Amino acid sequence: MARKVTKAIFPVAGMGTRFLPATKSVPKEIMTLVDRPLVQYAIDEARAAGITEFIFVTSRGKSALEDYFDHNLVLEQDLKSKGKDELLDVLNATNMESGAIAYIRQHKALGLGHAVWCARRLIGDEPFAVMLPDDVIAADKPCLQQMVEAYEETGGNMVAAMEVPTEQTSAYGILDTGQNVGTVVRAKGMVEKPKPQEAPSNLAVIGRYILGPSVLYNLNQKRKGSGGEIQLTDAIAEDIGNGVPVFGYKFDGQRFDCGSKAGFLQATVSFALAREDLRDDLSRYLHDIVATDRAAQ
Ligand code: UTP
Repeated sequence: MARKVTKAIFPVAGMGTRFLPATKSVPKEIMTLVDRPLVQYAIDEARAAGITEFIFVTSRGKSALEDYFDHNLVLEQDLKSKGKDELLDVLNATNMESGAIAYIRQHKALGLGHAVWCARRLIGDEPFAVMLPDDVIAADKPCLQQMVEAYEETGGNMVAAMEVPTEQTSAYGILDTGQNVGTVVRAKGMVEKPKPQEAPSNLAVIGRYILGPSVLYNLNQKRKGSGGEIQLTDAIAEDIGNGVPVFGYKFDGQRFDCGSKAGFLQATVSFALAREDLRDDLSRYLHDIVATDRAAQ
């Protein structure tokens, strides 16, 4: 049986250029989906999967993200004195235990693989999760929890996988799979951002991983890959060559690419429609504007 996964790395040191000018001063991970920052969704998912140590790889300009996890005692006191218990509960649910969260700085944006490698001393010799907060997954059972349960049976390395249209393979890491049946698929290889004609399959890796420490050893080589960046995909693929299995886990749920404007907007609408307090007004509004738009065409 595989070792328990209790640590997660959140690489958030990227520049978020697709959201400029907002990301000039606001970290992408703090941007709000309905009323919670993206990072809160990732933290809640990690907690549900049994994660107790949260390691953020940050960079210059991300101090708002660090502040977000501090207790806001003045606000708490104010809400308490006014008897706003519901809001106090909302706030308390975001508080982190002292010492549960650590920040490591990536001094240069050399790639996702490099960001993960920056956390190596905090991981040591145990399996760990990697979560990219801009991939938001709506699911009955949180995605990482699904993966942890599957990983307990398989060990090795596991990546969240999803089928994408062939013309989109160049936006993802793609798994080379023999057979693509069942929920857990063993990979023969992995390629970062292949052109559609060179993609070994249409099974894409998205931002949830459970990895063994061997991936960190592979990252020690600091080899540059696609786009001149140190790629996590390459370090995981290297494990396959070394006989460590890599499994694609076809999760149950809907993934939103909140690193892109279109994905962020879709997630906003979808999460708002799932909320009882917002659903009726929003769906009426959407219905009306779609009807007006159709009539104008
Ligand atoms: P992205 O490819 O989405 O890059 O990174 P980005 O900088 O966040 O956004 P754009 O493309 O400029 O709009 C995927 C994940 O890897 C992290 C990012 O923070 C994001 O969570 N990352 C990427 C790092 O932590 N360090 C890096 O050097 C690169």
